[in-house]
Amino acid sequence: MTLDLTPDELLSTTRAVRKRLDFTRPVPRTLIEECVDLAVQAPTGRNRQRWHFLVVTEPERRRAVADLFLRALPLSTGQPLTDQDHWRMNYHPESTAGVFDGLRHLIDNIHRVPAFVIPAVEGRTDHAPVSVQAGAWGSILPAVWSFMLAARARGLGTTWTTAQGPLEAELAQVLGVPYDEVMLAAFIPLAYTIGTDFKPARRIPRERVLHWDRW
Ligand SMILES: Cc1cc2nc3c(=O)[nH]c(=O)nc-3n(C[C@H](O)[C@H](O)[C@H](O)COP(=O)(O)O)c2cc1C
Repeated sequence: MTLDLTPDELLSTTRAVRKRLDFTRPVPRTLIEECVDLAVQAPTGRNRQRWHFLVVTEPERRRAVADLFLRALPLSTGQPLTDQDHWRMNYHPESTAGVFDGLRHLIDNIHRVPAFVIPAVEGRTDHAPVSVQAGAWGSILPAVWSFMLAARARGLGTTWTTAQGPLEAELAQVLGVPYDEVMLAAFIPLAYTIGTDFKPARRIPRERVLHWDRW
């Protein structure tokens, strides 16, 4: 059973869900399998299909993974913010404020999340040139977003996080992943959503991002 959403509604209402995750309902394995079946319809460079999806539901391992999430978050750095980033983040300040508010809720409840999805891709690209990075990440990220869309269509909520980043090697060890051969691409809490009505996000105007013939 999927929700009655048009393709445009699905694409425009798949939000990062934090406050409306239902921590009381387990997510059936069959639903996650369906999401993976759809995810692997995504493209990959040279049809290499190096993707993997680690799903963590077993209570003890889930606790270990949730602990790691909490320890990793303060260590996340990412690129420094530019003036343009500040402008974009403040264009709809309530949206950005909502992210931090929601994140607080997620942090406070991370141990109650019924499933974590950690997508992975074979082949490490540490220190590789951008052209190599583009091929590797471009061959896993479309599948991950498809997974998230498929989840939304089934009444499930997800939030893309990069919490795997700072403690990737340790997370790999907890999950038995061969770190030297495989990159963990994201860290995604998964649960049923509380209600299924989600709205399109408010973003910066199209004129600021659409470039025609030249930058
Ligand atoms: C690369 C990436 C990293 C993100 N990291 C986090 C994170 O660590 N914690 C979190 O709560 N949300 C994270 N998000 C979710 C974003 O905050 C969210 O997508 C954004 O604010 C827009 O909200 P929306 O998806 O509901 O439209 C991340 C999203 C992306 C694409």
